[in-house]
Amino acid sequence: MLLTELIDIKYPIIQGGMQHITRSPLVIAVAEAGGLGLLTTGALDAEGLRKEIQTVRENTDKVFGVNLNLLQPNIDELVEVVCQEKVPLVTTGAGSPKKYYDQFLAAGIKVIPVVASVKHAQKMKDLGVLAVVAEGQAAGGHIGASSTMPLVRQITEQVDIPVIAAGGIGDGRGLVAALALGAVGVQMGTVFLAAQETPIPDSFKEAVVSANDQATTVTGRKGGHPVRAINNEMLTQYLDLEMQNTPEEELEKLTVGSLYRAVVEGDTKTGTMMSGEIAGLVKGVRPAKEIIEEIIQEANDCLSQLSNVKL
Ligand SMILES: Cc1cc2nc3c(=O)[nH]c(=O)nc-3n(C[C@H](O)[C@H](O)[C@H](O)COP(=O)(O)O)c2cc1C
Repeated sequence: MLLTELIDIKYPIIQGGMQHITRSPLVIAVAEAGGLGLLTTGALDAEGLRKEIQTVRENTDKVFGVNLNLLQPNIDELVEVVCQEKVPLVTTGAGSPKKYYDQFLAAGIKVIPVVASVKHAQKMKDLGVLAVVAEGQAAGGHIGASSTMPLVRQITEQVDIPVIAAGGIGDGRGLVAALALGAVGVQMGTVFLAAQETPIPDSFKEAVVSANDQATTVTGRKGGHPVRAINNEMLTQYLDLEMQNTPEEELEKLTVGSLYRAVVEGDTKTGTMMSGEIAGLVKGVRPAKEIIEEIIQEANDCLSQLSNVKL
């Protein structure tokens, strides 16, 4: 089975929710190109989210979704809005959507939680969700402890639920690899950072485009909240302090407001430019449609090549 059979989309590609970043222009472009675009709720109040949902609806008749961070302080109001607006689908992060599940069901909303372990995937299956996104630690942003390949394969093998692979997938070959592991599709974030429709400063996009395979680093492992981002002055300093067992409150002083500095102010020195390990594959700033079409072309070419392989 493919994700395209579970959700009414053309290609099995989800543009992952990215805090403060995945606003309506990108979601519309991805939807029109045949993927599933997800709005972020970061920094939005209930009416701001409603407006974003309405803007998407005014500009495309395709399916789209909202990514909900369950730890966001105004989450109850945001859930209320997605239910009132009968958004087709939500993905959820930072915990279990159990508290809201009946509300989502009553509004006819499909629920796809992001998980980082077999145990969490099983719990979500027991709750009755449509599918899970299994996100490995190659991903940009907040990450779990498992690598993508072992995580995806163990969930597809051990939990009877459709799995969408995420973390370190940046092209058609990555998509085919995910399908080979038993996934029904993929969720990508990093490659969409460089989409023309993504509203981040050029300096952030340039950092992604010029990144190589070693460009990202993970901070916050000690405190139990690891985040992957492109290394810079501030993160190097953070890692040094982390090694010296600096108290959490001191470390936090460095990162307070740092996502805003990267996403809004374009500060590449002290901003947190969340990005995944696959940034080295990002070739340039292009429309989302071009990114998606190239991934699909490459995946089909790769499948043709593999059809000749005999082991
Ligand atoms: C800048 C950035 C911000 C992100 N913010 C969120 C978020 O708010 N909620 C969420 O569930 N995932 C978030 N993610 C994860 C993505 O939705 C997606 O699962 C991930 O990027 C996939 O891995 P990749 O970066 O290797 O493509 C973020 C990722 C990035 C790069």
